Amino acid sequence: MQKKDIDWSKLGFGYTPTDYRFEAHWKDGKWDEGKMITDSNIELSEAACVFHYAQCCFEGLKAYTTVNGDIVTFRPDLNAERMMGSAERLEMPAFPKEKFIQAVKDVVAANAAWVPPYGTGATLYIRPVMIGSGPQIGVAPAHEFIFRIFVMPVGAYFKGAIKPLKLTVPEFDRAAPRGTGHIKAGLNYAMSLHPTMEAHRHGYAENIYLDPATRTYIEETGGANLIFVDKEGTIIVPKSDSILPSVTRRSLIDVAKRLGYKVVERPVKLNELKDMAEGALCGTAAVLAPIGMVNTPDGDIYFPSGMEKMGPICTKLRETLTGIQMGEIEGPEGWVVKI
Ligand code: PLP
Ligand code: COI
Repeated sequence: MQKKDIDWSKLGFGYTPTDYRFEAHWKDGKWDEGKMITDSNIELSEAACVFHYAQCCFEGLKAYTTVNGDIVTFRPDLNAERMMGSAERLEMPAFPKEKFIQAVKDVVAANAAWVPPYGTGATLYIRPVMIGSGPQIGVAPAHEFIFRIFVMPVGAYFKGAIKPLKLTVPEFDRAAPRGTGHIKAGLNYAMSLHPTMEAHRHGYAENIYLDPATRTYIEETGGANLIFVDKEGTIIVPKSDSILPSVTRRSLIDVAKRLGYKVVERPVKLNELKDMAEGALCGTAAVLAPIGMVNTPDGDIYFPSGMEKMGPICTKLRETLTGIQMGEIEGPEGWVVKI
């Protein structure tokens, strides 16, 4: 198969329409079989529920070319399950797990020419999305839904890839107590757009949101969970009911334990940041992106790992995780799924 003529190593994290996408429709109380299509557009009623009442959830995972040339994806079962949970919370019909995994495989296989080659630093980002497509003017769930999976080749989410980031603590919250912070609802990202742009306007790459009830505990950033390493070398992972259960974070905890690190998952106070030796954002798009400093209401905190490179323990975790994804290191059974 002839790969597309792309300068893979120069890719950023952006949208490129590729050749095929999978689409299924929910109508009259059931999903149709779904099929591969070529049109990147969706035509909708002006009253589609998604436009007014944000009935939408999505997922993000990646496909990789391994060292021996296979195309693989990483733990798609966890994305399938998480999307079923998101759909349930938003009164949308769950898309069945096995069908989700098969559709991911089919879309990646159909777009194999777009999967970045091994060693380029680029990957294929896979975006499953579900919308309430039926017309709805009273506040109520739609009766019709579209589930679509499309893909695109991407590079690093943050410019400069593994250069430490400057973050800030916003005056805004991203999620509400007992709200939707734990699911991948489009509305959570709408909530983050203004604080994200404010952060950028002040020279910060991202926000660290605090727990919405007390604003004392660290939650996550707009598009990634957080992990820290304390000065004893223990990996500290913020725990909260209003953050997304990141597949990357759950995988890193497992990887860290296998590497022999002590891992503690617990609520982490903002005022503990000064005691940390390293910190990083973790997510499918972010992979593991180091934190250099955090602007807080009590002043700027510079991590001992510095502003030049990622700290040693985060580096080890990043290399091990990406090594598993790229087939250089054997991962736990079932993590790496061949297309
Ligand atoms: N938190 C938020 C708000 C996200 O958007 C993402 C990205 O998916 C994550 C965390 C990381 O989750 P995952 O590792 O499953 O990609
Ligand atoms: C991901 O990591 O898949 C995300 O969804 C983060 C962001 C691009 C929304």
